[in-house]
Amino acid sequence: MTEATRIVLASRPSGAPNAENFRTQRVELPDAAEGDVTVRVLYLSLDPYMRGRMSDAKSYAEPVPIGGVMEGETVAEVLKSRHSDFAPGDIVRGRIGWCSHAVIGGDKLRLVETHGAPVSAALGVLGMPGFTAWSGLKFIGKPQPGETVAVAAASGPVGSMVGQLAKLAGARPVGIAGGPEKCAFVKDELGFDAVLDHRSPSLSSDLQTACPKGIDVYFENVGGHVWDAILPLLNPYGRVPVCGLVAHYNGAGAGNEDRLPTTMGAILRRSLTVRGFIQTEFAAEHFATFLAEVGPRVASGEVRYREDIVEGIENAPEAFIGMLTGKNFGKLVVKVSDL
Ligand SMILES: NC(=O)c1ccc[n+]([C@@H]2O[C@H](COP(=O)([O-])OP(=O)(O)OC[C@H]3O[C@@H](n4cnc5c(N)ncnc54)[C@H](OP(=O)(O)O)[C@@H]3O)[C@@H](O)[C@H]2O)c1
Repeated sequence: MTEATRIVLASRPSGAPNAENFRTQRVELPDAAEGDVTVRVLYLSLDPYMRGRMSDAKSYAEPVPIGGVMEGETVAEVLKSRHSDFAPGDIVRGRIGWCSHAVIGGDKLRLVETHGAPVSAALGVLGMPGFTAWSGLKFIGKPQPGETVAVAAASGPVGSMVGQLAKLAGARPVGIAGGPEKCAFVKDELGFDAVLDHRSPSLSSDLQTACPKGIDVYFENVGGHVWDAILPLLNPYGRVPVCGLVAHYNGAGAGNEDRLPTTMGAILRRSLTVRGFIQTEFAAEHFATFLAEVGPRVASGEVRYREDIVEGIENAPEAFIGMLTGKNFGKLVVKVSDL
């Protein structure tokens, strides 16, 4: 018998989640049936979208039921396999959830390919967040040489990739991040042309100074007061891939005033293209191309990334709650067990 530790949704949050919304369980796993694989989780990815899964509001994906295991992508080691594609010792990725071990259908798993980077990269720079940045820029943002590309949450896995890919396309990336440490990383380590602190009261005028020719592409990750500062600077025919609105995920509160008339007026007068997307729209067709294109650049150090690794699955709720207010610094992953 294999025992598993799992974190389930105990109750739905109202506003910011807290520790009482989660419960830890110990369960015995059944034996693997034909086609199943028994895995030991090595790394669990924590991502902002999980806040949406805790809510039963209508969305593009089903909510986690009360008592259900929290959703999440993981990198895991195969312990036992009754699926012909996998053998013990294989390192796989799949949506196993917030748990230490699981029995899962082999058709839901993929072998990990990281071009020599640590396997945790399959959850960040070479996984879903990296692909989100790559596909949103390639198919919606379409940065041209000399253009200005702005992105917030710039030290995180999506934003850091957006800026570096924009630079490789010959554009001028301008990052927005929370606090001096993150800002220094974005400018000095990631090579953005400029970076602004969104906590500064002079964000709007700082942004204007950093973008003397306006903004051609704004990769929207946060919304809120950052959007207020960006909107007046968007150039005619500017493109806005709408990727996420993390400033609003915890619901009503400061900064949730009605932005619709100002936003729609700007879209109209400046012929802006504002296009939302979920990365799954592009993944089946383009993930392999992304990996082939970006993997070697990560392996060579040309594309850089930072991970924020929290030890122990029992610490996942606290780390997740902190991420929604910017406490993470880099791609947030939980190390569940040693490789
Ligand atoms: N559409 C898709 O398919 C898709 C896929 C993946 C991710 N996303 C979205 O992409 C965005 C970035 O994801 P990620 O995984 O790279 O997250 P992340 O950067 O690791 O974490 C979220 C960051 O958002 C920033 N933030 C939080 N509240 C904020 C506020 N009120 N104002 C400004 N910034 C705030 C914080 O960074 P600072 O401290 O720097 O502010 C925080 O670290 C999220 O909105 C996520 O939901 C969308």
